[in-house]
Amino acid sequence: MPYLMGESFILPSGQIIKNRICKAAMTERIAKGNNLTNQGHINLYKTWAEGDVGLLLTGNVQVDRRHVEGPANVVIDENNYKEQYESLKAWSRAGTKNNTQLWMQISHAGRQTPGEVNSSPLAPSNVRLKIPGRNYGTPLPMTEEDILDVIDRFAFTVKVARDTGFTGVQIHSAHGYLLSEFLSPDINTRSDAWGGNIKNRSRIHLEIIKKCREQVGFDFPISIKLNSADFQKGGFSAEECIQVASKLEDAGIDLIEISGGTYEQPRLIGVDNVSINPTRSEIRKESTIAREAYFLEYAKNIRKAVSLPLMVTGGFRTKQGIENALESRVCQMIGIGRPLCADPLCIKKMLNGQLETLPKYEKTLSLGPWILSPSSPFLIIKAINAFGSMSWFYQQIKRMADGKMPDLKQKILNALMADAKADKQAVKDYLEN
Ligand SMILES: Cc1cc2nc3c(=O)[nH]c(=O)nc-3n(C[C@H](O)[C@H](O)[C@H](O)COP(=O)(O)O)c2cc1C
Repeated sequence: MPYLMGESFILPSGQIIKNRICKAAMTERIAKGNNLTNQGHINLYKTWAEGDVGLLLTGNVQVDRRHVEGPANVVIDENNYKEQYESLKAWSRAGTKNNTQLWMQISHAGRQTPGEVNSSPLAPSNVRLKIPGRNYGTPLPMTEEDILDVIDRFAFTVKVARDTGFTGVQIHSAHGYLLSEFLSPDINTRSDAWGGNIKNRSRIHLEIIKKCREQVGFDFPISIKLNSADFQKGGFSAEECIQVASKLEDAGIDLIEISGGTYEQPRLIGVDNVSINPTRSEIRKESTIAREAYFLEYAKNIRKAVSLPLMVTGGFRTKQGIENALESRVCQMIGIGRPLCADPLCIKKMLNGQLETLPKYEKTLSLGPWILSPSSPFLIIKAINAFGSMSWFYQQIKRMADGKMPDLKQKILNALMADAKADKQAVKDYLEN
């Protein structure tokens, strides 16, 4: 029987994606202190484009240099776009090789901007992000003028993406960054037209989409990454997500990617009490294939309300799991992240029938069973577990950007140290620019 994952797919805007697999957005953090595109981006996406995925999403490209998720993010704004126009074109040429779609993920980090970069970031309200061991400033609530500026910035960056050869864009409204903050009632406590009920909390999204469509028309794919829920008490809920999905469909979005969680609750990479606990994560490994997909159940409920294409990302590791999700018709695309850092060709191998299971490298830092207890008071260690393991993936991304293949033997502690050093240097470079 032909596998669905290898079937092509037509988006509402008329573009064709050659198969059902998307490399999920993964921040590259390889721009220098000037936040411009460089040869590393070109090398990296050339490697991924050789891996036969239908759609490559870039890591988050920021619309405002004062609001980056990391100091080595790419930023595109009116001040710097001319300087990097040619390198953006080279990036898109590399990432669209092999008939691959390359979409730019566009974001504003909001209150999740590191404090070293900006100690007073703009956000919907002044609710500060509190992560043990990390430094985030108390946000300045955005004025109406600030909000309109952000809307313009998204539209500008989308236009540059189109003009420089990217074949689509994704608006990042997940994982606790600015647009996701607007949706969350515990973070957006505004009482004006941009806060309060869900209609107001999603207003900025609809305004951005409208402005972007004015800039690029309707034949250019615009997608959005949305949290199925924040998994925070009083946060954006699964019921509200369904309402927002329906509004986004009406606004002319091509595809919604379903993810979930924030820095405070990193479900996006499968970290929750279950996976932190080794005994219970054992259960997870033996669980049904359907459960390998973190957010498929949420997507099922969203599907009841919308008919536009959905993509589900997070946790997919087997061909069978991918096929089951596609066969259910709940989603039309599957996002794959970490396995493509461990082996950029793993999807090609799976499509060729050489691989049934994708490489699993989502290690946690093992410092002793007491630390891994779900009731552990050692929140700092939990945070390290969640984000420390990310360092390993950042290191593999950096290797590919340097034209090397991933080093599967790299120890997570070494990766953590190398990453901390690189981060420190990146902050220094950023501040000097
Ligand atoms: C190193 C790394 C960087 C990431 N950066 C981003 C990002 O820039 N934008 C985004 O939407 N998600 C980001 N994510 C989340 C992934 O897109 C994806 O949702 C997550 O890894 C779960 O998919 P997986 O289980 O297949 O890895 C990142 C994940 C990793 C591991």
